[in-house]
Amino acid sequence: MRSQVVIIGSGPAGLLLGQLLTNAGIDNVVLERSTREHVLSRVRAGVLEEGTAAMLEEAGAGQRMRREGLPHDGFDVAFDGKHHRIDLFNLTSGKRVMVYGQTELTHDLMDTRDRADAASVYEAAEVTPHDFDRDAPYVTYEKDGATHRIDCDFIAGCDGYHGVSRRSVPESAIHSFERTYPFGWLGILADVPPVSHELIYCNHKRGFALCSMRSMTRSRYYVQCSLDDHLEDWPDDRFWDEIRRRLPEDVAGRMTTGTSFEKSIAPLRSFVAEPMRFGRLFLAGDAAHIVPPTGAKGLNLACGDVRYLFDGLRDYYIGKSTAGIDAYSARALARVWKAERFSWWMTTTLHLFPETGAFGQRIQEAELDYLIHSRAASTALAENYVGLPF
Ligand code: APR
Ligand code: PHB
Repeated sequence: MRSQVVIIGSGPAGLLLGQLLTNAGIDNVVLERSTREHVLSRVRAGVLEEGTAAMLEEAGAGQRMRREGLPHDGFDVAFDGKHHRIDLFNLTSGKRVMVYGQTELTHDLMDTRDRADAASVYEAAEVTPHDFDRDAPYVTYEKDGATHRIDCDFIAGCDGYHGVSRRSVPESAIHSFERTYPFGWLGILADVPPVSHELIYCNHKRGFALCSMRSMTRSRYYVQCSLDDHLEDWPDDRFWDEIRRRLPEDVAGRMTTGTSFEKSIAPLRSFVAEPMRFGRLFLAGDAAHIVPPTGAKGLNLACGDVRYLFDGLRDYYIGKSTAGIDAYSARALARVWKAERFSWWMTTTLHLFPETGAFGQRIQEAELDYLIHSRAASTALAENYVGLPF
């Protein structure tokens, strides 16, 4: 079998790239090791930058997002018992974000790919990229007891942090940067109305808390927790008590609690692999970088990579120019590192770091106090949150 582009991974990055290529008449195959159901079972953040929402529309997969997505013009920052609104819309001269679950976005892209009758192989085992340092790369995989081979021009490694693509690159050719954080996020989903119509990011001496949502009837809440915690340490009652202890009293007092139907603990990490291109192999999305979820940048960075990679591949096939693919890694990394900085700043400013003690808490509160009283500081926060231009 032959295809122009083989995409490894059927997450947001792989599916969005695949749809844009298909719409441009560029032949591609998506190879995914899991089942569709497993891919769609993952619970992930859902704050879309305008550029991400625009790409979903460009891919022809934006209809449901337009119907069901929640446009947000601002969010609250809470600390020292009070909360203050960051007016995204006015601070960025009219930009906003769209609250729309990543699972829904992935579902919409899968459905759009099905309607386009583009080739996807699920439960593809042992997917392996070959000869991407030459001009005739190919990918092999196992399925139904047989080994399959796809010859191609390019391979897009959209297979996430634990994927095969980055691991296939010789260690000497890749430079990784990493920071791990000494805490996790305990998150729940519950079919109760959100405590606010916008998100609330809360700094507290007991730890960070975040009030988010999936709709006006489904809430998504998080509290900072120890990496030694287990789900059984956090029955619903303890979760609701803890998040209300961390929120300002007026917010906690109006919180609707209920039974969670999803609960998970996730570690936080900052990670970047450089470069993002190795001959005919390109890394995009979590395969190349990870951000702590505090700035809601993971999905948006994956889409930003796809913007540059699709434009480069389109110029290669249609514009007969290699300029776009040659510039891909540098362009993507310039945007990645700005989002890594922003996500690191949100994380270090809002979370409890026991090792920095009472002094560290005061420094965080001073940073936040400056933030809400300085238009320049609030504007810097707002323009990073809504998304820097591609
Ligand atoms: N072979 C084939 N598929 C693979 C392999 C492999 N060896 N390894 C991983 N995959 C698949 C995974 O099963 C997953 O469906 O690649 C896909 C990668 O998807 P994501 O991890 O969602 O990564 P990405 O598309 O870059 O999207 C980034 O997703 O995980 C969130 O927080 C992250 O919001 C960010 C977004
Ligand atoms: C979420 O809704 O899951 C969410 C929102 C904003 C974040 C992180 C997670 O910064």
